[in-house]
Parts: sequence; structure tokens; C-alpha cells
Amino acid sequence: MKVLVATDKPFAKVAVDGIRAVVEQAGHELVLCEKYTDVSDFHKAVADVDALIVRSDKVDAAVVDAAKNLKIVVRAGAGFDNLDLAACTAKGIVCMNTPGQNSNAVAELALGMMVYMARNCFQPGAGTELKGKKLGIHAYGNVGRLVAMIGKGFGMEVYAFDPFVKAEAIQADGVNVLNSVEELYSTCHYISLHIPANDKTKKSIGYELLSKMPKGGCLVNTARKEVIHEEELVKVLTERTDLKYATDIEAGNQAELNEKFGIRVFATPKKMGAETAEANINAGLAAANQICKFFATGDTTFQVNK
Ligand code: 3PG
Repeated sequence: MKVLVATDKPFAKVAVDGIRAVVEQAGHELVLCEKYTDVSDFHKAVADVDALIVRSDKVDAAVVDAAKNLKIVVRAGAGFDNLDLAACTAKGIVCMNTPGQNSNAVAELALGMMVYMARNCFQPGAGTELKGKKLGIHAYGNVGRLVAMIGKGFGMEVYAFDPFVKAEAIQADGVNVLNSVEELYSTCHYISLHIPANDKTKKSIGYELLSKMPKGGCLVNTARKEVIHEEELVKVLTERTDLKYATDIEAGNQAELNEKFGIRVFATPKKMGAETAEANINAGLAAANQICKFFATGDTTFQVNK
């Protein structure tokens, strides 16, 4: 079988070497389409492959159409909003993610961004500390849980809201459970966002929730920019001159945010959350192993288009 790694934002070399070893040891062939400048290069590369590994690369109907032999796509990472599941399902292509594999990298970045914002983006002048502040975890999945643990290490008081996770499981981690999203935003100085981007969540974080935040509140978004209502974000940051916003991927209106709000806002130039050698190795190798297992035994653990 032919396995393609198509990554606009390439994995670290050590991860690619590991993926190659896994794929070739199982008797398959590895091909690479890294840092492609035009999506047509991706379309050409995918034409004759049996399996595909991507990161945030869009696997849309055009990619699916170009891929004549494709049987499985693995998104090496957590969020699979970049995969057109309907188009894949229609062609019998199995889609998977690799949950948990890059979570620690994202969680560390979230706390790093909190420190950066608390210290006025490292500009001269007195900042504040995280110790004693209330940290709200919006969605308690793999990343949210790790953010909670690291936040506790900083001496933060940690709260979480997640209607899909049992309260007892959250409480067992020493984290306070809140019963509504409104309560989370009105309680916490720092909110760390970990909701996926889907039809229900897109543009769901806006004026109503953010205006509830306590004085000096800061929203940290290492999830997806699509979940933010960007016009309402401008409105609330204009009215509430104490609030801050840090995001691991530029907002659609980042230039406006930067101009209007200066060091009260920060965005990484390119999504950095999973950009560590460790996360690349974990997620890349998991993807390669899942593909080899699928071809060897038909295993569909982690399939997301069942
Ligand atoms: C994820 O969903 O796993 C993260 O957003 C990582 O995305 P990336 O692989 O494009 O860095």
C-alpha cells in the first residue's frame, strides 16, 4: 500500500523518520508532499495513494475526488473539522484522528500564553501573576484536563464546564465543576477554550459570555478561531478595556484587533499548539500505526465517520 503524508506545516524530521520506519516495516511505501505551495500539488500527490496522513490540511471534496484509491485518512491530531466526513463516507473512506497525542503541547502553550498576557506581552511595567486566579476550562477533554493540571501547578483555582463529561470524573481531578457556561465565564479570570469547531459551536463565544468575565479577564483560545464571534469580540474588547484575548491562530480580523487593542490581544503567526517534536512524534507515529493496523486487521478504533 502507498501512504502519503501531506502536510502544509511539516512534521519535525524526527517524526517523519519515525513514520517512515513504521510504514516500511509493515511492508508499505511512504510518499511525502510537505510544505506544498499550491493545493494542486496535494491533489496530484494523493491521486494513487491508499492512505493519507494530514495535519490541519483540508481534505475536502476536491481532494477526495482526486484520490482514486484512498481507503483511509488519518488526521494526526485531535480536531477533524478539516476533513469533509460526508465526502469521505460517500466513497467508503475511513476517517480517524489521533486523540490525546498532541494534548500536552497544546496545554503547555495555553499556560504559556496566560503568562505572556499576564506580563503585558513582556513589555516593561508591572504585570500580574496567575497564582490565586480562577482558571476556567471550557470543555474538559484531553487538552482541557492537562491545562487544569498545569494551572493547579501555578496555584490557580480551577473550574470546568463540560456537559459531556461526568461531574465525578472532573471532581476526581480536584477541579470544581460548574453547571453552565455562563457560570464559567462569570466566575473565571482566565478561560481556556477547548471546544471543537462544529455547526453548534461556531461563533458561539461572543459578547454575551465575554461581557460576564470578572475584571481583568483573559480568554485563551487554543481551539479554533471559528468558535469566536469576531465582531462581538471587538465590541466587548472596546467596552471592557480590562479584558484580553490570546489566540493560537490569527483571527479573521486580527489586523483590526491588533490596531485597536495593542497588547491586550495576541495571536501566534501560525498555529503553534502542536508544534513540538514530541507532539509531532506522538501524533505522526500514532497515525502511521493506526493505518498499518487498519490494513493488517481492519481495525477501525478512532474512526470518526462511523
Ligand atoms: C489539533 O487539532 O490536533 C491541533 O489543532 C493541531 O493542529 P496542527 O496539526 O495543524 O498543528
